[in-house]
Amino acid sequence: MRFSPSSSGRCLLGKEIREKMLDEFYTLFHEIENSLSLINFFLPYIPIPANRRRDAARIKLKEILSETVRSRKRYNQVEEDALQNLIDSKYKDGRSISEDEVTGLMIGLIFAGEHTNSLSSAWTGSYLLNDAKCLMTAIEEQKKIIKKFGRRIDYHVLLEMYTLDRCIKEALRLHPTAPMLLRKVHKHFTVWTKEGHEYEIPAGHTIVSPTVLNHYIPYIYKDPEVYDPERFGPGREEDKVGGKFSYTSFSGGRHACPGEAYGYMQMKVIWSYLLRNYELKLLSPFPKEEWRKFALKPQGKVMVSYKIRQLA
Ligand code: HEM
Repeated sequence: MRFSPSSSGRCLLGKEIREKMLDEFYTLFHEIENSLSLINFFLPYIPIPANRRRDAARIKLKEILSETVRSRKRYNQVEEDALQNLIDSKYKDGRSISEDEVTGLMIGLIFAGEHTNSLSSAWTGSYLLNDAKCLMTAIEEQKKIIKKFGRRIDYHVLLEMYTLDRCIKEALRLHPTAPMLLRKVHKHFTVWTKEGHEYEIPAGHTIVSPTVLNHYIPYIYKDPEVYDPERFGPGREEDKVGGKFSYTSFSGGRHACPGEAYGYMQMKVIWSYLLRNYELKLLSPFPKEEWRKFALKPQGKVMVSYKIRQLA
């Protein structure tokens, strides 16, 4: 399973790149993505081949983006896309942002928005296709929605997809794309655990909150190893049991993901379309996690077979 951006490419990168060099752009982006390993997270500049390819790809990406920026400025061309917003944005002191910063922010945005979404969609699909009961419940929901709204999918229709929402949320509980969240401690503070232990956290330290462990705490999540989307349903709402940080696939606090609602929309568009139009079967075994990568992606290829169909 591989999800690649297309129309989102125009909204983000602009029509020039979307029309002429989207493949090249994403091949370069994937070089950067491929270098993202746990080792690199702690030692980002070690001279290994993956880092050299990453650095060469970044230079090329900057050339492509800078050329687009210059061409727009040269012809006074203004477009409606995220790239234009970055070009036009200014610091508080009136300074424009540099081409290098535009490139860095763009790579950051693609990573934050596209990479996370494609991984989460792949995990959601793997769970759905591996669990006949959940798959049937998700298909039944689509049938009911088609009966109520016809075949159109828009914002309001997506909001009615509660089951699919929970299927995605549960896949992300078991496989959060960011396995740990890091924060720099600005002010000393004390933590008391449920068991009554006390920990002093000094200013200047970096603390790690391991989402990948927190989501398996058994007093919060019943049978945490089990894929059970209904644990988020009415009457259970297990993600509320341990307070507001029980579920942190989209992080929490000041730096919580601003793209969460949009991310759910995108994943629901993908999976409602697939469920409505294809009969899918998982051919490969259920994927293991690729632990060497920072974002928890499925190991190897997730293979599915498909037959075209239309849900009535
Ligand atoms: C399934 C989809 C997504 C997942 C799982 C996800 C996850 C996350 C997580 C865990 C963080 C916080 C990292 C931290 O606390 O250190 C984060 C931050 C962020 N996300 Fe997302 N995200 C998703 C989709 C998106 C989308 C679609 C966008 C934009 C369109 C986006 C934009 C951002 C940005 C800009 C930040 C940085 C926020 C800050 O540092 O203040 N994300 N995301």
